[in-house]
Amino acid sequence: MSKISLGMLAAAAIFMCTIAPAAGQRNGGAADLPDGPGKDAVAQECTKCHGVNNITNSWGDTKAGWRQTFDSMVKLPDDRAEIIATYLGAHFPEKPDRPKTVVVPGDLKVNIKEWIAPTLGSRPHDPYAAPDGTIYWAGMWADVIGHVDPKTNAIKEYPLPTKRTGPHGLTMDKEGNIWFAGNFGGIIGKLNPKTGEVKEFKMPDPAAKDPHTPLFDKKGMLWFTLQNSNMVGRMNPATGDIKLVTLPQARSQPYGMVMTSDGSPFICEFGANRLAKFDIDTMAITEYTLPNPESRPRRLTITADDVVYYADYSRGYLGMYNLKTKATKEWPSPSGPKSQPYGIVQVNGIIWYNESAIRPNTIVRFDPKTEKFQSWIIPGGGGVVRNMSVFANGNIAMAESGVNRVALVETPKTGNARGTK
Ligand code: HEC
Repeated sequence: MSKISLGMLAAAAIFMCTIAPAAGQRNGGAADLPDGPGKDAVAQECTKCHGVNNITNSWGDTKAGWRQTFDSMVKLPDDRAEIIATYLGAHFPEKPDRPKTVVVPGDLKVNIKEWIAPTLGSRPHDPYAAPDGTIYWAGMWADVIGHVDPKTNAIKEYPLPTKRTGPHGLTMDKEGNIWFAGNFGGIIGKLNPKTGEVKEFKMPDPAAKDPHTPLFDKKGMLWFTLQNSNMVGRMNPATGDIKLVTLPQARSQPYGMVMTSDGSPFICEFGANRLAKFDIDTMAITEYTLPNPESRPRRLTITADDVVYYADYSRGYLGMYNLKTKATKEWPSPSGPKSQPYGIVQVNGIIWYNESAIRPNTIVRFDPKTEKFQSWIIPGGGGVVRNMSVFANGNIAMAESGVNRVALVETPKTGNARGTK
């Protein structure tokens, strides 16, 4: 290669770096910001990774709330952060129609421990409660898999080799390898935490773009949803061979996944009021329609006797669908129709989920026997808990994407647990 072409490559690289923020500004540039002291600082510091639309379209916040939000994304000198927080608090105060946090009091106690992910702005997406009591998480926007040991507080991040992998959901195999869905990169990845080595598996079809939530079946095959591609995949981890099926109806948005008691993969469709079951061998699909046409089940959990509970994100309900009796029932979530229930798990038949639209977020406990709720504020704010994962002792691992934290919820002990893994 000649010197000239090397120089041209370098110039091209610099050009690409400088247009990255401009691309972000298509989604709202500094011109969309109201005038005032601090505007320039916001325009400079807050468009490096995204447009100002994230700010202008937000629910708004207090000065302190703004500081907490952006401190989890970018480390700024204190005086500069103060200028920005003051500007944001004054021009983007909390909107009056933001749903209010409603905490349901009760007798039970939980203990919530939190850790800040080392890379700011990494948006921990899904957590995984490992058998050794440690927590892995997918640092989606930083292309890392994180790991924390709650006993020692030892925390580390494993870098992924490919930029814009966007690790989203993750799970573990019997050897302790982490398998993750690379949502931006369209891959399934395998991380060996002992060596840090990562192996990538590409989709066999370019239309399969966004692997989402992975889960092993009882035969050791790795199933995963692909939300916007409208597909579900099944991969043989030994060979990397992947089979894909497309959902029967357009824009079904296959999302959360669990396994039924007979070992069938079972998902919710976030684009419709439907759930779906897959034949473990043929991948044939059976769909189930939920009673309310406006329901949008975003994630789900399943009890040992095949009662499905789903987070009805669009309506602010906790929903139930009994696969054996076909009975359905739903309960309004404590913080109301706009509370956006999201991450959900069950611990020995007790349902735990997150209300993600309110600030701070809550973690909600629901006992199907008494039909009673109790809820707690998440100390770090929650910042949208997109998924949870259950330890064998019934404690819950939680990732708090918007506040860049990972958490352990020590739940009241009520017996043996069966998680959603
Ligand atoms: C290092 C990268 C980075 C920087 C710098 C950054 N952010 Fe972010 N921020 C993110 C990412 C990643 C998201 C998620 C984007 C998405 O989901 O599309 C985000 C989302 C947001 C949101 C949406 C609300 C939420 O939590 O989902 C707001 C508001 C926001 N940022 C405010 C700010 C402000 C204010 C600044 C400047 C002080 C800033 N950001 C600087 C990475 C960054």
